Amino acid sequence: MKILVAGAAGQLGSLLPEALSGHRVEAIGRDRLDVADLASVRGAVRSARPQLVVNAAAWNRVDDAETDREGAFRGNALGPRNLAIATAEAGIPLLHVSTDYVFDGRAGRPYHEYDAPCPLSVYGQSKLAGERAVRELNPRHFVVRTAWLYAAGRPNFPSTMISLGRRGPVRVVDDQVGSPTYAPHLAEAIARLVATGAFGTWHMAGTGQTSWCGLTRRLFERMGLASEVTAVTTDEFPRPAPRPACSALVSIQDPTITLPPWEQGVDEFCRAVA
Ligand SMILES: NC(=O)c1ccc[n+]([C@@H]2O[C@H](COP(=O)([O-])OP(=O)(O)OC[C@H]3O[C@@H](n4cnc5c(N)ncnc54)[C@H](OP(=O)(O)O)[C@@H]3O)[C@@H](O)[C@H]2O)c1
Repeated sequence: MKILVAGAAGQLGSLLPEALSGHRVEAIGRDRLDVADLASVRGAVRSARPQLVVNAAAWNRVDDAETDREGAFRGNALGPRNLAIATAEAGIPLLHVSTDYVFDGRAGRPYHEYDAPCPLSVYGQSKLAGERAVRELNPRHFVVRTAWLYAAGRPNFPSTMISLGRRGPVRVVDDQVGSPTYAPHLAEAIARLVATGAFGTWHMAGTGQTSWCGLTRRLFERMGLASEVTAVTTDEFPRPAPRPACSALVSIQDPTITLPPWEQGVDEFCRAVA
């Protein structure tokens, strides 16, 4: 199959060509494809002539979205809308990636595919609008919700905590729980999902759940960092965008697309950055 990947320079986008290596993959970054520009999207689909488009492009600055609502909706709602229009016109499916932050976290348990979204933040609202556009405009879609995504060699929560931990003790939020997801595991699971051809909404995140503090403790243990990790509350660490207290994800659908436990992702990440 010929697959066009949008957002190729991102954490996930840069890993997809290898994970999808059984296919012919054309991966293009923002410099060649601005997903918020319908003419650019139509042109890219026409010239690549793919049989599937994977959208790994997104506007991911969760806190900035609170003050740049238009930027967030352009990247996260208009972008997938344009991709859904162009792929529907070409008669091909679209795989779009979304987030656990479409949930408000008030259930107090992991969310499955049939739970009702209710985003707390502008980022979450913009991502939910993107999901809805994809579902409405191209019936042949995969909407893949993931969470707390990280890869080696990128600015993300684990790499930030490792650099802070090398300098001294850290204080980390312990009352937000989620499913940390090692991006190579997600890329591999996306390749398995594509092979099933099973359209619909999928929760694909590291199996299990922990807090940011639990994630940091595992990271430090595996990196051999002795720095003290102190658990703090969200109230002690205010951020512009509200976060769900528990946005762990589970899938109640096909177990073959399940990702490894989140702890395994941390261990592989630590080996990659050591
Ligand atoms: N990171 C997380 O913790 C997390 C959690 C849950 C879900 N997700 C979702 O997982 C997916 C992959 O995330 P990621 O962490 O790989 O993101 P990332 O590293 O931020 O990569 C996103 C890429 O999209 C590009 N982009 C932004 N606007 C664009 C546009 N208008 N046209 C084309 N490209 C554009 C970005 O380019 P610039 O850098 O130039 O802006 C960047 O290269 C996204 O859908 C994200 O919402 C991520």
